Amino acid sequence: MEDQRVTTLVDQEMQEALQSLTGQHVISVEQFSSAMLEGLFAEAKHMEHLVDRRVALSSLRGLVVASLFYEPSTRTDMSFQAAVQRLGGRTIMTGGGVTVSSVTKGESLHDTIKTIACYADAVVLRHPVKGSARQAADASDQLKLQMRRTVPIINAGDGTGEHPTQALLDLYTIKDRFGRNIDGLTIGVVGDLRNGRTVHSLLKLLAIDNCRVNVICIAPEGLTMPQEYVQFARSRDITIRETDDLLTAMPELDVLYVTRVQRERFVNQELENLAHRAYGRRFELLDPPLQEALRPVAELQAVQEYEKAREAYVIDPTVLDQAKREMILLHPLPRLTEIPPEVDLDPRAAYFRQMQNGLYIRMALMAAVMGRLE
Ligand code: NCD
Repeated sequence: MEDQRVTTLVDQEMQEALQSLTGQHVISVEQFSSAMLEGLFAEAKHMEHLVDRRVALSSLRGLVVASLFYEPSTRTDMSFQAAVQRLGGRTIMTGGGVTVSSVTKGESLHDTIKTIACYADAVVLRHPVKGSARQAADASDQLKLQMRRTVPIINAGDGTGEHPTQALLDLYTIKDRFGRNIDGLTIGVVGDLRNGRTVHSLLKLLAIDNCRVNVICIAPEGLTMPQEYVQFARSRDITIRETDDLLTAMPELDVLYVTRVQRERFVNQELENLAHRAYGRRFELLDPPLQEALRPVAELQAVQEYEKAREAYVIDPTVLDQAKREMILLHPLPRLTEIPPEVDLDPRAAYFRQMQNGLYIRMALMAAVMGRLE
């Protein structure tokens, strides 16, 4: 009896937490509370059952969601669109993507967002610049004042910043395997931790959810986890060890989260380094001819750096031999050479399941943000 009352109270807290997402932008994992996560994960499980049974759903009927991707995407874009459409909503995008939109004429993100927000009820945004999702949310808020339209912006990855919905599905996948309480687990994150936004968000989300886990950050020199994320996690009960030695860490791990070396970020990084070394200024503050002069050098150095990093960690069957039999192997995908295809058949490979969970999590999230939870 007593237990039942406690469960009801907890359920109510979860429901209220979920309802508080209505009309909110989703910019960073910092916006989520444990109660919200629990509510979202329960809702995602429910969505999974509904999708499995091919139930026709209609909670987003009458709503239009815009997909605005300034960077390539397969999973995030399509799973958001599938999520909206499976819930009976519709999606729009510029025919042929951003490359044929007014962005190529030089339109600012601010104006683009204000335009799209006049046509759609929410915008899913991926952009190469860290902080752009926040800027887009500010543009949408301006529209709210001027035209009384509330149009949530969903951050689908902002440069090397965050990827909050990926972190939601990553944590969902971990809890789906190990249970609601994951205290005591040892989670390894390996690869390009400097540029990989998914691991930035995941580390923060584990901290926000008060998971008492041990995290081992495994990266080559120069690609280590930015200290802002390490410190955030350490300040909230997470133990973090940093190393470049994957093989020694391997036997301890319950989860290994592998990331791609983010080749597209390397040239920008090299440009910044060169501009700083040669002129003591940020690259964007240099005159255009100077910028052009630095570009070929940066590109060459970026290729060399990239090749070195790419070879640093490859999770092949011999490396997996060192891991626990119950470990799960995650990857946000796309993968390149870091996990060879023969590993897909190993029972520990969970990255395709993880990707599938993206659909259920995004269905739950979109229903919550649009205030259409049933
Ligand atoms: C990731 C991303 O875009 O940050 N992909 C994804 O959304 N599943 C990871 C990556 O590109 O390496």
